[in-house]
Amino acid sequence: MTPPDGSRELATPAEPIDSARERFRTDVLVGLGLTPKRLAPKYFYDRAGSFLFDAICELPEYYVTRVETQIMRARVNEVVASWGPRVRVVEPGAGSGTKTRLVLEALGPERCVEYVPVDISREHLAHAASLLRADYPWLKVTPLAADFAAELNVPPGSDSASTVIYFPGSTIGNFDPPEAERLLSRFRRAAGPNGTIVLGVDLKKDPATLHAAYNDAQGVTAAFNRNVLTRMNRELGADFDADAFAHYAFYEPVRGRMEMHLVSSRRQEVTVSGQRFRFAEGESIHTECSYKYDLPGAERLARSAGLHLIDAWLDGERRFAVLELRPVL
Ligand code: AVI
Repeated sequence: MTPPDGSRELATPAEPIDSARERFRTDVLVGLGLTPKRLAPKYFYDRAGSFLFDAICELPEYYVTRVETQIMRARVNEVVASWGPRVRVVEPGAGSGTKTRLVLEALGPERCVEYVPVDISREHLAHAASLLRADYPWLKVTPLAADFAAELNVPPGSDSASTVIYFPGSTIGNFDPPEAERLLSRFRRAAGPNGTIVLGVDLKKDPATLHAAYNDAQGVTAAFNRNVLTRMNRELGADFDADAFAHYAFYEPVRGRMEMHLVSSRRQEVTVSGQRFRFAEGESIHTECSYKYDLPGAERLARSAGLHLIDAWLDGERRFAVLELRPVL
């Protein structure tokens, strides 16, 4: 999967562990000092959080992954048709999963000159690369350790291949619109004038379906949300009582986004790295936004980043869209 800023935070990140830890500490101390309190969703994805997210993708209520995969299975040949005869696929958030494989197989050795997974975690990159090399011996895999939310400097290839930035999973939804615009602009620059951006976007739909997807019956999403508290305890010496925070997720129709919160079930004080934070009963930590788009909204976002919509593939129930975008020249 692709976490919100490409930073699946596993054991060997692109930056040294100490500085990654210090960045986490600083972000937490700043975020818990805000009103309302907030944490960046990228911090969900330590080892346990990544595992829980993979479990979310298997849940009956979480249609997102399943529907996007269905679209790609059915339409991948159409999706890749216009990418050009020689293609370099860049994937922010190292993928080795089904959707990546569908793309690589549809291109085949004749068209796919290189696959560049981008992730902050060297360990995750190495793992994804070794899985793909084992299954596709013809594939040139060039892992790039970087936080794609901050920079995306894809080394220029020595060939005439066109660059396709493949960004599935609706991870774009975890960025606030101005950040999403900056991210897509960065993708546009990295893809170059002849490049293509292929984006998975979760669509607006009835709130009950959205509500169920983020409030699953087995409580996996709740565990995923609370895991960030356990992570702060372990990595920052915090003393959160995870049971004293309730998972709360709802659809906010004005902004068109799911919000996830951790709501304090009582008045309490928590210490993080020696700093004390007070929680009133019912006070929340806002842990994630997941924006949902309609096609005109997605097109407006693309336009604001200097891209235009070439094609869109949707499932029959219009739950999810795979968009092909190209730079406005
Ligand atoms: C990674 N991202 C697209 C997921 C989403 O749906 O926003 C993360 C997630 N949060 C709760 N469930 C899944």
